[in-house]
Amino acid sequence: MGKQHIVAHQAATKSVDKIPVTREGFITGMGIAAATLGAAVGLGNIWKFPFLTGANGGAAFLIIYLMSTILIGLPIMISEILLGQRAKGDVVTTLIKMAPKGQPWWLIGIAGILSSFLILAFYTEVVAWVFAYVFKAVSGVLLSTDPDTNMAVFNQLITDPVQSLVWQWVVLFAIGCIVLLGVAKGIEQTTKWLMPILFVLLVVVSIRGLTLPGAGEGLSFLFQPDFSKVTSPMILTAMGLAFFKLSIGMGAMMTYGSYYRNDQHIPLTATGMMVGDLVVSLLAGIAIFPAVFAFGFEPDAGPGLLFVTIPAVFASMPLGSVFVVLFFVLAAVAPIGAMISMLEVPVAFLRGRMGLTRLHATLITIALLAIVGSTVALSNSTLAHFQPFDMTTFDFYDFLTSNILLPLAGLFICLFVGWSWGFSEMQQTLSLSDTRWNRYLTIVLYGIIKFVTPTLVMIILLSGLNLL
Ligand code: PHE
Repeated sequence: MGKQHIVAHQAATKSVDKIPVTREGFITGMGIAAATLGAAVGLGNIWKFPFLTGANGGAAFLIIYLMSTILIGLPIMISEILLGQRAKGDVVTTLIKMAPKGQPWWLIGIAGILSSFLILAFYTEVVAWVFAYVFKAVSGVLLSTDPDTNMAVFNQLITDPVQSLVWQWVVLFAIGCIVLLGVAKGIEQTTKWLMPILFVLLVVVSIRGLTLPGAGEGLSFLFQPDFSKVTSPMILTAMGLAFFKLSIGMGAMMTYGSYYRNDQHIPLTATGMMVGDLVVSLLAGIAIFPAVFAFGFEPDAGPGLLFVTIPAVFASMPLGSVFVVLFFVLAAVAPIGAMISMLEVPVAFLRGRMGLTRLHATLITIALLAIVGSTVALSNSTLAHFQPFDMTTFDFYDFLTSNILLPLAGLFICLFVGWSWGFSEMQQTLSLSDTRWNRYLTIVLYGIIKFVTPTLVMIILLSGLNLL
């Protein structure tokens, strides 16, 4: 840094709201990257991305998802982190601090807290199945090449109220413990270890998939688009996936932004995270689809793809019993960082606005989650008759968050940054991390956040919900 820059940097740092010295935060740049990537990477990559891509025709869906990630996801991710870094508060506090007095932008934060509960409610249940599957894989129950047999194993698990509930509690207990350890010791340390392990496991499984005879068909399914499959609900689903994948529209990135160091370059970090997340999704696709095709399975099995088709695929290959264990360990490890980022949203809120200690905030959130989560855990057994809008609670929470709440919150975050917070505030926050090209970057970014992203979100949302 030149002398001039250091002065500018110090001045900018001073102008930021006084930060309580005792406030927790991430310590290293590496830790920030790991925690942010850890929040983005999860079952979205290993479960949701493959089953949605499989069910929506492959490459055409992938392209729309890619475009949504770049034009919609990235600008919103940057906006959220910027706001958090600047305000150093939980979602609601951040928006109250940054908005002009009396304007209710903090409602975005409330929507985010609601989304975090609804997503965690079904997400922890999918992780619960994965935990159960790790044990099934080790004990050799998953070694049938017949999808029907695997379907029976899966159905037996999800329709058993006791197993569904208890495994969900195990998951809630595990993430509660990590969040209790705090930002630096819990979140930063955990994700720093998880990310590399995940990556290595995925590469190993992908290489196995690619070296199978007949793998080519799976690759062309993933990379050769058929645009006749494109419909507006499909575009909405692809955009919803982009929101879900990047963990945006619910305040997780805003909350993590508040733990960022002031010299962290946010557009660069966010872009790196987006690319990293895409690489993990593509690797998961490469690990799964070639194998699905090589063994003659169908790619459009839906949410069960991970639990029904995948074990059958592994059972059909040499060393399958080893790979199936590897794969489910991977699927159990991947979502931990994502779950703690979601959990941190209400926990930070309860601490920041209600003055609770981390212990009390975590305990209350976990207890509430056990209640909301049980409506999902029991959605295939005791509560199966309860079908809001003709969907199981599982599907309903998923649809409501990914396809409505997250995009709506994302839309309002753009409108807030573009039309209320404004160019000079954004530029001032960006200049904390000083690089020479910040001015041009800010102009382009601001234009996208103000006009392009909100217009796209609005059109996709309205047409996807048949309101246009
Ligand atoms: N991005 C996470 C995943 O892909 C899920 C998530 C959504 C995490 C929203 C935090 C917030 O699995």
